[in-house]
Amino acid sequence: MDKLVIRGGNALSGTVTVDGSKNGALPILFATLLAEEPVTLRNVPRLVDIRTTVRILGGLEAEVQEDGDKLSITTPNEGSVTAPYELVRRMRASVCSLGPLLARRGRAIVSRPGGCAIGDRPIDLHLKGLAALGAEIRSRQGYIEATAKRLRGTTIFLSGPFGSSVLGTANIMMAACRAEGVTMIEGAACEPEIVGLADFLIKLGVPVEGAGTPTVRVEGVDSIGGADYTIPPDRIEAGTYVIAGAIAGGDVLVENCVPGHLRSLIDILTRMGVRLEIGDSSIRVWGATKIEPIDIATLPYPGFPTDLQAQLMALMCRADGIGLITEKIYPDRYMHIAELNRLGARIRKEGPTAIIHGGQPLSGADVMASDLRASASLVLAALIADGITEVHRIYHLDRGYVNMERKLSALGADIRREYDETGV
Ligand code: EPU
Repeated sequence: MDKLVIRGGNALSGTVTVDGSKNGALPILFATLLAEEPVTLRNVPRLVDIRTTVRILGGLEAEVQEDGDKLSITTPNEGSVTAPYELVRRMRASVCSLGPLLARRGRAIVSRPGGCAIGDRPIDLHLKGLAALGAEIRSRQGYIEATAKRLRGTTIFLSGPFGSSVLGTANIMMAACRAEGVTMIEGAACEPEIVGLADFLIKLGVPVEGAGTPTVRVEGVDSIGGADYTIPPDRIEAGTYVIAGAIAGGDVLVENCVPGHLRSLIDILTRMGVRLEIGDSSIRVWGATKIEPIDIATLPYPGFPTDLQAQLMALMCRADGIGLITEKIYPDRYMHIAELNRLGARIRKEGPTAIIHGGQPLSGADVMASDLRASASLVLAALIADGITEVHRIYHLDRGYVNMERKLSALGADIRREYDETGV
């Protein structure tokens, strides 16, 4: 397996450009299953998760042509309705094939996603929503089979014990596009990725209202056309580089982002004493000399995103004093604590809360990436650790960050990828 070798201590400076949003692109790729005409998607990030999705779409008989960051997709009416375990197990977002496939072909057989390093990730809300639309759901031999001659619009309350579900909302919105009548989703996720999906569905000719609020209205239609759509920038990638700048800048300009999607991060960093300059589509950040500790919680949008929790923890290791993070979306998403501690951090988990004793000197070590955002956090900590850190199992990083080592290296970091010739 490839690894990253990082020598800490270099100050970052320069400009880094953000790619298209992974979590924005994934549901939209599955939504192309609804379209009877060709779809063109632009600014699609070239990531492993996107490749996995393209393979799933290919298995469902979609014809996908790739040209750099542009994908052209045509999906016939008839074809396979199965998303196999072999692909679904690699990426939980594959569950988003259920809604559009069911709506388009009247049947969907999708492997139940398995366990995940960030904790329990149930799909009960997805299934509850589809059942409310009139789908018959069966679960057998690790697969979910959903059937419906024609879905029927209804009002669905979709929030669960941890609040709204991003992909659950996306799945039901997609299924509702071809349902008879109007579907109202109450307790919908408000994340920008839902707004992006709604914009795409509107381009396909489906009337969608209220995206970005807890009530989304989808009016089912009989036929769905094609569209040409540009994937918005990745707010989590942008946030990761803003935090990198705060940890190890220098003077870093993060461009091609939507600062409005990062209000909670901007507020938190400002309270920590980080100097920021907010542009229309950029955030400039200066490395902080003194960092104030802080007490924060992850929350659904517009709250602080769980997908930036691990990266912010790396920054909190530099704070003067004790900081707290409470994880309210995935209470067990703390695999990075033990690895940050290997670098010399002093962090203790107490239930869903991490207690970070900032100001401990970090020194390079071998560490293991456990999931995508945890990997990013280890890379950020390595930038300020004394000596060399080797981050192993970085295939997680490749699922969500386009060329991270090249982008950081261009900012002045001493970072290189060591390829594993054995391919293990
Ligand atoms: N939940 C349920 N039942 C469900 C679905 C979710 O109880 O049926 C719970 C989850 O266990 C969690 C909470 O609801 O406690 C929120 O989960 P959500 O469904 O919103 O997560 P998701 O849609 O599966 C997306 C992102 C994740 C991100 C979360 C939260 C994609 C592909 N994934 O997952 O991104 O952490 O929203 O914002 O969009 C990542 O990119 O690293 C990543 C994990």
